[in-house]
Amino acid sequence: MLSQADRVRAVVWRENAVELLDQRLLPGAIHYRRFSKAAEVAQAIREMVVRGAPAIGITAAYGVVLAARAAYDRQPERWRALMAEDLALLAAARPTAVNLFWALRRMERTMAEPTADPLARLLAEARAIHQEDIAANRRMGQLGAALLGERGAVITHCNAGSLATGGYGTALGVIREAYAAGLIERVYADETRPWLQGARLTAWELVQDGIPVTLLADGAAAALMRRGGIHWAVVGADRIAANGDVANKIGTYHLALAARYHGVRFMVVAPSSTVDLSLLNGAAIPIEQRAPEELLELGGQPVAAVGAEVWNPSFDVTPAELVDALVTERGVALAPDAAKLARLMAGQHGEPPPRGLR
Ligand code: MRU
Repeated sequence: MLSQADRVRAVVWRENAVELLDQRLLPGAIHYRRFSKAAEVAQAIREMVVRGAPAIGITAAYGVVLAARAAYDRQPERWRALMAEDLALLAAARPTAVNLFWALRRMERTMAEPTADPLARLLAEARAIHQEDIAANRRMGQLGAALLGERGAVITHCNAGSLATGGYGTALGVIREAYAAGLIERVYADETRPWLQGARLTAWELVQDGIPVTLLADGAAAALMRRGGIHWAVVGADRIAANGDVANKIGTYHLALAARYHGVRFMVVAPSSTVDLSLLNGAAIPIEQRAPEELLELGGQPVAAVGAEVWNPSFDVTPAELVDALVTERGVALAPDAAKLARLMAGQHGEPPPRGLR
């Protein structure tokens, strides 16, 4: 059965266009924007109308469908060559979430297939990417919930829910599944400065689902853990390197350090499309820098001292040694390292999820 928030989809393909729920307006307004050109889709990704690694990948896949349709309309015999500019725009939209590049590669492989109806084939592939992501989230929900053990509270960072994925969510998928099983009494959500994905999106999803949620400033997480009662930190990921290092929303590393110090287990939940075996470790992951205004302003109002300079990395890298469990739809790696990740990605099913590590 769909939960309340899970009825809201971040990405919808409808009548030959992609519709994106404008996440910049949430929770104040539920407003879908409609895009029928690939260049507009790339801009929407860049401006975070849609955000979250899997949702970005799904959106890019539909963007490729739009690019192919436009190219085919112009010159049916040269449609692949005419798509180059749109494909480059989509690839340049955001640098850190590898799901974007994974989806583009998968669509490019589909473009190369001989078929009588390439446009129908490409749309079918984009839809498959979308549906497979939802199925992966369901599976990860079960695998992650099986790790939680005794009932307690969890903390999460950023938004790794329905809104960040095809539906259901990665970290929030685990939380939804575990709450339904009676394993979670409360979710603490970091507000997630500066874009407030936690305050605006995660808290909204959980409130819609009737899951008790307490919002806290990012800097309050260590003090909360010191009080006790937090059993797990559960987060998503934007890119996972071959050795298990995890790039995720800025502040995740901070949370992982505080978790290790306080004996709180740290779980990363991400589909295999987020794993990038081409990068040896997290140092090689490109980290997006975003505009200074995200820190200098709040709701369009200036809040900072005029003349202050800004460092605004959108992501950080949590070393694999701080990760207790990596949950993918292919299985679980406890204390992930290069060998375990290679086995998981080769389809050998990781470690059987023990019920409760605590
Ligand atoms: O900048 P964003 O909002 O796209 O960053 C999103 C995150 O960091 C999420 O935690 C990550 O993409 C996982 S989403 C399932």
